[in-house]
Amino acid sequence: MSTVVAIDGPAGAGKSTVARLVAARLDYSYINTGSLYRALAYAAKASGIAFDMITPEFLNSCHLEFRGADLYLNDAKLDAELRLPDCARGASIISAKPFVRDYLMPVQRNAARGQWIVMEGRDIGTVVFPDAEKKFFVTASVEERARRRMAQGNEVDCGATFESILADITARDERDMNRAVAPLKQADDAILIDTTGLSIDEVVDRITALC
Ligand code: DC
Repeated sequence: MSTVVAIDGPAGAGKSTVARLVAARLDYSYINTGSLYRALAYAAKASGIAFDMITPEFLNSCHLEFRGADLYLNDAKLDAELRLPDCARGASIISAKPFVRDYLMPVQRNAARGQWIVMEGRDIGTVVFPDAEKKFFVTASVEERARRRMAQGNEVDCGATFESILADITARDERDMNRAVAPLKQADDAILIDTTGLSIDEVVDRITALC
């Protein structure tokens, strides 16, 4: 048995920051499921396999496990490498493959077993935990999300512009929302939270009050 608060939404809507803070306020565990897709993209890249070319056999060589909120790939802890732009792009590509989603389903369900947990992703309230106690769909306009990424600065240091970030977010939304399996969409019983123009504290207050 587990008690799940599902927080889904598009890239860059502030989900991770909000989900982590909500979990801390409620004294729940926290898991970011995007890190699983990013970890497989990282593993493919490290093995010289193009994102499009990964196979079920390759997945079988990847043992992924959460220890608390930390993610381990074949017993090595992953952290900053997961935030590389290439891992984000690769995660979005490989996550469209049904065998990848099948492979990660038990990893996600096992991670929640016996826990009070805030789980964040794209399909938590629709597919992974359709019976989650609470479901939120956290979003913001594309321009707002691009502005937030600009403000973080690290991509700008690598030469990104507002236009290139906007194009990247739009492409990722397009892929995530239009894939055949478990596309990004709001569950019928999820509460929509549009964070455009709201501070992080306002969003966290709203979600914790509703929990
Ligand atoms: O949340 P994130 O940016 O770390 O996610 C990276 C990619 O992983 C995202 O583009 C789509 C995919 N993803 C998914 O398909 N399902 C999830 N539950 C979480 C992430």
